[in-house]
Amino acid sequence: MNSSTLVPPFWQKKYKDEAGRNWDKFYHRNSTHFFKDRHWTDREFEELRPGHDTFSELKNPVLLEIGCGVGNFIWPVLERNPSLFIHACDFSPRAIDHVKANSNYSTDPPRCNAFVCDITKDRLADLIPPQSVDIVSAIFVLSALPPEKQAFAVSNIVEIMKPGGRILFRDYGVDDLAQLRFKDGHKLEDNLYVRQDGTLSYYFSTERLRDLFVRHGGLVELANEYIVRRLVNVKKEIDSDRVFAQAKFQVPIDTSAIESALTSTFI
Ligand SMILES: C[S@@+](CC[C@H](N)C(=O)[O-])C[C@H]1O[C@@H](n2cnc3c(N)ncnc32)[C@H](O)[C@@H]1O
Repeated sequence: MNSSTLVPPFWQKKYKDEAGRNWDKFYHRNSTHFFKDRHWTDREFEELRPGHDTFSELKNPVLLEIGCGVGNFIWPVLERNPSLFIHACDFSPRAIDHVKANSNYSTDPPRCNAFVCDITKDRLADLIPPQSVDIVSAIFVLSALPPEKQAFAVSNIVEIMKPGGRILFRDYGVDDLAQLRFKDGHKLEDNLYVRQDGTLSYYFSTERLRDLFVRHGGLVELANEYIVRRLVNVKKEIDSDRVFAQAKFQVPIDTSAIESALTSTFI
């Protein structure tokens, strides 16, 4: 049954303020064992396949993975694309330590730069050169942000992207099975919940993504859809859906549209 009672304001603030600490505790408990390496990403995003136009025309393509965790997205992509360089950031220092301790990290020449950054506060352009990134991957990370901080994160990302660069997005979609299963006491606001371990989980609609990336961010929408996977439990005679929101947005070649989007307000 879905929850109807909202978490009291004091606790809402506490969960939002302590998001970084709760994710760091998550990696303290789970180390590198929670998520599996994401070998499916090139199936969903052609840009991540070796030889795709995005990479073939560029000598040394650069990707930024935001909210990289312990690197489950990074390693398969690096392995498949030998000329690719990946910047990877996360606000959990423990997660970044795990990335740096991985045997794939310290190569010569270096192919990965991992650093601590809270994308809702720290300016990425102070940490890596502005307009230097061809692809940004946002894989199950924006759902960890409260909605009022998502627009800043988008502007922050856009600043370090090259004109023509692309954002590859996959995250939880509205009415995902996990959203419908939250019990009373977990809902903060529409589509925003807190898990048992104190981490937040937001469920995206395609309209919300369009508002964030197109209306606020000034980007061009290349794809924006729900991916639905039906789970069937024959014993319990229950069918339920995993719902993901998957999208791609591109920085326009003429960035004057973006400059005006960054100065505009977002509700
Ligand atoms: C579900 S994990 C996804 C990890 C990785 N992208 C992957 O695909 O395996 C979400 C990650 O986002 C990070 N995160 C959440 N909020 C963040 C923020 N404001 N700034 C940077 N990282 C954040 C968390 O620490 C966590 O590692």
